[in-house]
Amino acid sequence: MSRILSFANKGCLVLLLFLLMLSVSCTKSEDDIRHVIGVAQANLSDPWREVMNAEILAAASEYAEVRVVFSNAGGSSVKQKADIERMIRLGVDLLIVSPVDSRSISPVIQDVYANLPVIVLDKAIEGYDYSLFIGVDNDLVGQLAGRHIKRLSLGRPIQVIEVTGDLNALPVVERMEGLRNALKDAPEIEIIGSFSAGWQRDLAEDLTEEHRSLFEQSDVVFAHNDAMAYGVHRALERYGVKNKPIIGIDGISGPQGGLELVFEGILEATITCPTGGEEAVLRAMDILEHQSGLPKKIILRSSLVTQETLASQSSPIPALRKDSPITLGFAHPGRESAWRLANIKSIGDAAKDEGIRLIEVNANNSQEAQIAAIRSFIDAGVDVIGFSPIVATGWDEVLREARDAGIPVICSDRTVEVSDENLVTTYLVSDFWEEGRRAAQWLKDETAQEDQIKIVEIAGLPGSTPAIDRAAGFAEVVDQSPHLTLIDSTPGDFIENLGYEAMVRLLIRHSQIDAVFAHNDDMALGAIRAIEEAGLNPGKDILLVSIDGVREAFLAMRRGKLNCTVECSPLLGPPLMKAVKDFVAGEELPLRINPEEGVFPMEVARELIGTRPY
Ligand code: AHR
Repeated sequence: MSRILSFANKGCLVLLLFLLMLSVSCTKSEDDIRHVIGVAQANLSDPWREVMNAEILAAASEYAEVRVVFSNAGGSSVKQKADIERMIRLGVDLLIVSPVDSRSISPVIQDVYANLPVIVLDKAIEGYDYSLFIGVDNDLVGQLAGRHIKRLSLGRPIQVIEVTGDLNALPVVERMEGLRNALKDAPEIEIIGSFSAGWQRDLAEDLTEEHRSLFEQSDVVFAHNDAMAYGVHRALERYGVKNKPIIGIDGISGPQGGLELVFEGILEATITCPTGGEEAVLRAMDILEHQSGLPKKIILRSSLVTQETLASQSSPIPALRKDSPITLGFAHPGRESAWRLANIKSIGDAAKDEGIRLIEVNANNSQEAQIAAIRSFIDAGVDVIGFSPIVATGWDEVLREARDAGIPVICSDRTVEVSDENLVTTYLVSDFWEEGRRAAQWLKDETAQEDQIKIVEIAGLPGSTPAIDRAAGFAEVVDQSPHLTLIDSTPGDFIENLGYEAMVRLLIRHSQIDAVFAHNDDMALGAIRAIEEAGLNPGKDILLVSIDGVREAFLAMRRGKLNCTVECSPLLGPPLMKAVKDFVAGEELPLRINPEEGVFPMEVARELIGTRPY
């Protein structure tokens, strides 16, 4: 319910909103309305956004108690800010914002979020001041285009023209980067031009005319949406240029949508970019109904669509749609940390709660053992395989075996680097990069008055995604902070005793250490032991920041020995079981789901220790 209007006033509110804004008409009785969702749309000049609104409307129509009101900013951030403020004044219960421009709308969203749930759709904003973000991985979208261009080139030298959306938009930057990353190892492919046509078909058409000879000379055109791709096609067609492969993005259905354009051979390919409209309404309902364990980020799956994939018409692994109990085989990497024990418990408890038969194997910190466990699940014919990959690489072969056996694979906790992203059905993972960034940000703020802070890092298991990404996120902030210097980094494999040994080595190597960044709490606890043995005061002589947020870390903070822990939630059991059940029921799973996570400095440890779930 709105904090502004009482339940009894809801009918009047709806009427008011209805009159004041471009709003939804449907047959719901005003008396039934319990929740009003405001949708601040960036513009409606591109068909993809019309689809987003239509999806929102269709999903909301399933709930008699929900009313949706829309605004259209017409591409103006100023107007979008005014739209949002008006919706808030009128008392919507939840806001869905698809930003015109992430940077300028971030502070507005931050303010709204202080009082109201906000779902950010499509363009991510800076920081975490929102309830939930839903969007695609735009870097991956660019990479999918790049990989397809490589397939088209067959190793021959070819020239590519890129037609981008609005250059200030983050998705454009990420798509451009993704494309270039995918082409890094293909020097024979040259990008001979990159032009912005602001997402507009007509602008792309004009642009193609303006640079006619360059477009004619190119071998492939990659446009950042299907509308622009179609614009390029229209211009080239006028000049009698036929069969130039044009790749777009979006893949919406309906007349002149990307799927139809590919089907008709007008576009060589499109990369799907789901709008997230339906997902936003489903998650809005979870938020409004105060469900627990809600995610922070949902990254939707994008895939390449060509005439061939349209003809095969099948998802990589078809849904099971079975009524009998589901069997999940899960391969844990080991029992290396308190975090892992909490994670194993969460998975076991959730399987029990959901009536899912769980076969568990513990790989004892060995990738070979984890691969063998996955093979044993394939042989046993489980319905779904889950695993928390010990390291990022080396999984292609066994995951292909699982796919060939028709068994979906869900990665929980950590991601993998594979050649074909369809080998994994979904990822339920923390944002490790953000965790590292947050740890550094805390240290930066805490030591802002100091001239020079020398930091040592005790890293997690080499090759594991948390170790790689936490180090990268941490380094990014350190590199931009003149008073912070990372003087050494050594692994402790996420194990308490190895954290202790790492700290002993670091204390011998360096006469001055001001701060320790440990990639998990267990290693920080080991480091505390070593620091005390060296006759120093952890938490005072040497600051310590770590990651996980386990109870032992809170105890250490209460004793003043650990300064801060950044949360990494091990409570992945419930979302894992939900994903398993959704898949079996035939629902399309997102590419990636990140849980909600916080930052806990020692000042809040005493107050929060009793509330910690692990
Ligand atoms: O992958 C999550 C990490 O693995 C945790 O941060 C660490 O404690 C665990 O071992």
